[in-house]
Amino acid sequence: MNAIEVNHLRRVYRAQIGVFNRSIKEVVAVDDISFEVKQGELFGLLGPNGAGKTTTVKMLTTLLIPSAGSATVAGVDVVKGANEVRKKIGFIFGGERGLYWRLSGDDNLRYFASLYGVDPSVSKKRIPYLMELVGLKGRGNERVGGYSRGMKQRLHVARTLLHDPDILFLDEPTIGLDPVGAREFRNVILDLQSQKKTILLTTHYMFEADALSDRIAIINKGCVIAMDTPSGLKKHVSDLSVVEVETFGASETALEKLRALPFVDSLSIEDREQKQILLVQTTRGAEAVPDVMTALEGQRVGRVIVREPTLEDAYVRLVGGAA
Ligand SMILES: Nc1ncnc2c1ncn2[C@@H]1O[C@H](COP(=O)(O)OP(=O)(O)O)[C@@H](O)[C@H]1O
Ligand SMILES: [Mg+2]
Repeated sequence: MNAIEVNHLRRVYRAQIGVFNRSIKEVVAVDDISFEVKQGELFGLLGPNGAGKTTTVKMLTTLLIPSAGSATVAGVDVVKGANEVRKKIGFIFGGERGLYWRLSGDDNLRYFASLYGVDPSVSKKRIPYLMELVGLKGRGNERVGGYSRGMKQRLHVARTLLHDPDILFLDEPTIGLDPVGAREFRNVILDLQSQKKTILLTTHYMFEADALSDRIAIINKGCVIAMDTPSGLKKHVSDLSVVEVETFGASETALEKLRALPFVDSLSIEDREQKQILLVQTTRGAEAVPDVMTALEGQRVGRVIVREPTLEDAYVRLVGGAA
């Protein structure tokens, strides 16, 4: 049995707009999404903002009812068996509140354990175990208000593990964390994975999906546009190399010239402090460099490197301009 099965799931939001001339605006947040997650698998849902990741997770965690299609979690239908599903899952949504800042970390967990009906004799042992698991050992007596964002986010994970669910849904769990906090958080995810938990992780950071996931579904505009292992996805771009050119404000005309070169597959631009990095995807490798430099004549250019494609490049190619 698969831990999660999703069949043609769809969700349309209806929002009323206007006060006097009322009309209903429909937003197709999830158009047609299907995938399966095996037991113990860490499955990444990767996609740009607005792709429909949170809406998908909300339907799977019984917080939203699908407009069409169906899904099972732990073999139970998420609509007909919502109560049963809730007992078997844990979830956290990025940037979520819902901890008591005036209470200590331990007291928060004691509170939620009683709320979830966990037997006190069980939670007495389980709370110190979970605090250690999420790297908060020795900090349980401190008020949560004094925790860093990363510590709060890890306490959310401990909270959602109190009833020992087999299946976890983590929606953009590292959003808003500093790089150290995000790295510590990823280590917690890897620990959970080694305990054979099934994890559905959403993120818009490709390197995070790459580092953690067994398999990834890339979603865009409410549809799955690719699904594979990270290395399988990279094969989509194995014919490409990437020429990275550092510039300091290249003109629009120069960028147009670059885009028009026949061997340029795609051009994307990353802002890094005062610099812009032009990422030129090409099948021509280092031989493309002279022509790229000609197109950029008259522009201030810094370092130029040619490198192998990453998962991010596969993502850019698949999602196109939306990334
Ligand atoms: N409550 C809502 N009402 C109307 N539209 C919504 C609502 N929630 C999300 N949307 C829209 O649905 C689309 C998908 O959103 P979401 O599932 O949050 O995407 P993601 O999590 O991938 O960023 C977006 O266009 C978003 O604006
Ligand atoms: Mg989201």
